[in-house]
Amino acid sequence: MNNPQSIKERLSADDPRYREMFVLEREATKAGFHVEADYTAEMNRLRETAPVMKGSIRSLLGLPEVAGSVLVERENCTFLSFHACERAFQENLLFSSEIMKESVGMRKIGPTILQMIGDEHRRYRSVVQPLFVRPRVMSWWKQRWIDETVTLLLDRLSGRTAVDLNLELCARLPMYVVTRGIGLEGQDALNFRDHLTRSTFGARYEKPEAVEAARVEVDRVLQELINQRRAQSGDDIISVVLANDLKLPDGGTRKLTDQEIFSFCKLVIFAGGGTTWRQLGITIDALLTHYHFWEECRDDRSLINTAIDEALRWRPTDPVFWRLAKEDVQVEGVMVPKGARINVCLGAANRDPKIWDRPDEYDIHRPSHYNLGTGLGPHRCLGREVAVQEMAAAINGLMDRWPRLRYDPDQPQPVFMGLDQRGMSAVPVLLD
Ligand code: HEM
Repeated sequence: MNNPQSIKERLSADDPRYREMFVLEREATKAGFHVEADYTAEMNRLRETAPVMKGSIRSLLGLPEVAGSVLVERENCTFLSFHACERAFQENLLFSSEIMKESVGMRKIGPTILQMIGDEHRRYRSVVQPLFVRPRVMSWWKQRWIDETVTLLLDRLSGRTAVDLNLELCARLPMYVVTRGIGLEGQDALNFRDHLTRSTFGARYEKPEAVEAARVEVDRVLQELINQRRAQSGDDIISVVLANDLKLPDGGTRKLTDQEIFSFCKLVIFAGGGTTWRQLGITIDALLTHYHFWEECRDDRSLINTAIDEALRWRPTDPVFWRLAKEDVQVEGVMVPKGARINVCLGAANRDPKIWDRPDEYDIHRPSHYNLGTGLGPHRCLGREVAVQEMAAAINGLMDRWPRLRYDPDQPQPVFMGLDQRGMSAVPVLLD
C-alpha cells in the first residue's frame, strides 16, 4: 500500500466525486448551511451595536435557523466582542462544550473530546495530544504525509497553465493527509470520505437506507483498520491511539474502546478536512489579492506563517462555535441566563477594533496578537499545527514552482462566502 508509485497513481486519479464533494456551495448546502453571501460586514455591525446580544447569530442576521440541526430548543445569546468570545472559550466549565451533545451532526460522529469538559476532557485529550504537538507534527505529519502529498498534488498540475487551486490542491491536500494519517490511501481515502459525509449529513438529501449503508461502510473500514493495527502495529494515528492509555478518575488506566476510536477518527477527518481546505483557499486568495504580500512571502519564506495566521484572523473559515451557559452570568454588562445557547461569533471578535487597528485590512505586518481563528482555552484546535504545516507546505510548493502565479483574469472573479463554513467559491489561477 505504501509503494510510492501506487500512492502517486492513486492521488492522481480523477473522479467526478471531487467536483461533487469539494464545491463550497454544494458541501455547505448539503449540511443545511447558508452560503450565498459574505456576512462579515453585518457581523461587524452587530458587534458595534453591542458586545453581547440576545438571540442567535442567524436571527440577528435575519436568517432562518438550520432546520433539524439541534435536539434541544434554547434561548440564544450571541457573543461578538473579542473579550466576550475569549471568555467563552477559556471558561469552559461556565460556558460548556457539552452543548455539542445536542448537535445532530455530532451525534452521528459519536461522543468525542469536542463535547467533553473538565477532567474528562483532559484525560481523553491527553490520549491523542502527543500526536499533535509541534515536534511530532514536524517529524511525523510533515515528513510522513504532508510534504509528499503536496509534491504529488503539484506534480499533477505541471504542464498545465490554468487551474482552480481550490479543487485541485486546497480540497485534496487535507483530505489525503488526514485519511492517509489514519491508514487509508488514494481512492480508499476518497471512498471513505464520501461515505463519512453521507453517513453524517446524508439525512438531508439521501434515503435513510443509503445513510445507514454509508454508516455501516465507514464502521466496517474503521473496524478493519483497527483489527489490522491490533494484529500488527503500524505508523499511523490508529496505531498510536491503540498504544496509548486512557487515565481513569480512580488512578487506573484502560485502552480506548473501538467505538471511541471510531468517533475520534471521524472527528479528526471532519475537523481536519473541510476546515483546512477552506482556510488554505482563503489564505491563497488573501495573498493574491494583496499581491505585494505574495511577493514578500515568496522572497522571504519566514513570513508565510504570519500570512497564514493573519488569514485566520481576517477570515476564519468557521466563524461561530457554540457553548452552554451553566449559570446566570453577566458578560460585558448583559445578563446571560443559565441554559442559554451561546453563539460564540469569533468572526466578529477577530475584527474587534479594541484589539486590532484597521481590523478589516489583511496586513501581514501588524503587531502580533493571538486571534480566535482556531479557538482558545482547553478546546483550542488540536490539529492547529498540522493545518498550519499543510498550508505552509502548499504555499511554499506553489511559490517554488510557479513564482509568478496569479489570479486568472479570464475567469469569473472568485467570491468569499458563507456563514458557517466560509470559503472561496474558487481559486482560478494562471501558473506561469
Ligand atoms: C485551518 C484549519 C482549522 C481550523 C480553522 C480549525 C478550527 C478549530 C476550532 C475553532 C476549534 C475549537 C472548537 C471549540 O472550541 O469548540 C477546533 C477544535 C478541534 N480541531 Fe481544528 N481546525 C482546523 C484544522 C484542524 C485539523 C487539521 C485537525 C486534525 C488533524 C483538527 C482537529 C481538531 C480537533 C480534534 C478539535 C477538538 C479539540 C477539543 O475539543 O479539545 N483541526 N478546531
